[in-house]
Amino acid sequence: MRKSKKALALMLGATMSLSMFAGCGEAGGGDATTAAATEAKTEAATEAEKTEAETEAATEAATEAETEAATEAATSGGKKVGIAMPTKSLERWNRDGSYLEEQFKSKGYEVKLTFSDNKIDQQVKDIEGLIADDVDLLVIAAIDGESLTQVLAEAKEENIPVISYDRLIMNTDAVSYYVSFDNYTVGKLQGEFVRDQLDLDNQAGPFNIEFTAGDPADNNAGFFFNGAYDVLKPYIDEGKLNVPSGQTAFDQVATKSWDTATAMNRFQNILGSNYSDGTQLDVALCSNDSTALGVTQAIETDYAGTNSVIITGQDGDEANLKNLVDGKQTMTVYKAVANEAVATLDIGVALLNGETPDESLISSAGWSFECAYDTSSYDNGTGIIPSYLLVPTVVTKDNIQKELVDTGYYTMDAEGYPHPTN
Ligand code: BGC
Repeated sequence: MRKSKKALALMLGATMSLSMFAGCGEAGGGDATTAAATEAKTEAATEAEKTEAETEAATEAATEAETEAATEAATSGGKKVGIAMPTKSLERWNRDGSYLEEQFKSKGYEVKLTFSDNKIDQQVKDIEGLIADDVDLLVIAAIDGESLTQVLAEAKEENIPVISYDRLIMNTDAVSYYVSFDNYTVGKLQGEFVRDQLDLDNQAGPFNIEFTAGDPADNNAGFFFNGAYDVLKPYIDEGKLNVPSGQTAFDQVATKSWDTATAMNRFQNILGSNYSDGTQLDVALCSNDSTALGVTQAIETDYAGTNSVIITGQDGDEANLKNLVDGKQTMTVYKAVANEAVATLDIGVALLNGETPDESLISSAGWSFECAYDTSSYDNGTGIIPSYLLVPTVVTKDNIQKELVDTGYYTMDAEGYPHPTN
């Protein structure tokens, strides 16, 4: 409505300026004056025509925008979406939160977005709040996959569908769908990267490697670790790869809360106990960027060797991309969370419309990214949760421009460091 009034004002303005110009011309006398007046009139008329055309275009644009907004409001039916993210302290969840919010808002949904400071009780409270707020859909990235059973029973009672976002929520039959990246493949890409960098199929080694994995409360962490370990285990068995700390079990290498300082402290201890005699460290396999950051710091301060250690990561966090550019971290597995948000929107809209999305959604949605529909890999303890799994990408110093900047996810600053665009 407001926009129409604005268009009307523009139109009135145009008519007024035309009569003002015409009035000026008629006031003059003599040929020259008449010619000038005629010229002025023609000019004024042309101007007026232009202005009118502009006004028309503005009116059309306004009407189109209004129609779009009305259609979106009709699509959303005034419904509300509750989004619960784990924390702002790990970089990616900020991006996930804002992409998801932007996606659902663009379709006219009201959005309530919470971050729970990586505190389990806080997230339970936040989800309770969203349920009390009458949301029609919940999108949740759990802090602890095992701790939401009770609160999600409340959601189920209220018939609120739940999308388990990125991390699988365990032991609840309230979860309708799981949207994530292929988590096992994330780890596999890290393992394959190390295999290829060291040319393990042709070199005898032995090389030294240490592992750092993620939070045991996060169902993804085991997938990442196993994906990497399964690729490297044959070389460990063969003696081409050694693990001087002896820490090869997930529980030994896990990092509570994916915390950077925790990863750093553990790695300083490993370096102190196993590498202070001059033993060379060749690889630090880290499951993600927040842990890689801590491990890189530990290597900078506590490693005596001068070789450049291969360090893996995941996410494309800003500080880690800087380290990639500076040669301090070797790779990161990038997951385009903007696409994860697009997939979540389409699954969410289907659920809000009372539909049961399946594999056909992938083609009907016309996504520009690859995605697999998986009905066998993710059992949350109550049965298989149908999953939409996007495809991760390896990013090194050499393809940052192509994978991150040219795709529009990041912009490069004058010094050659990438920064996220949202
Ligand atoms: C996500 C990773 C992230 C980690 C820590 C995992 O669940 O899949 O992308 O690095 O949490 O935030």
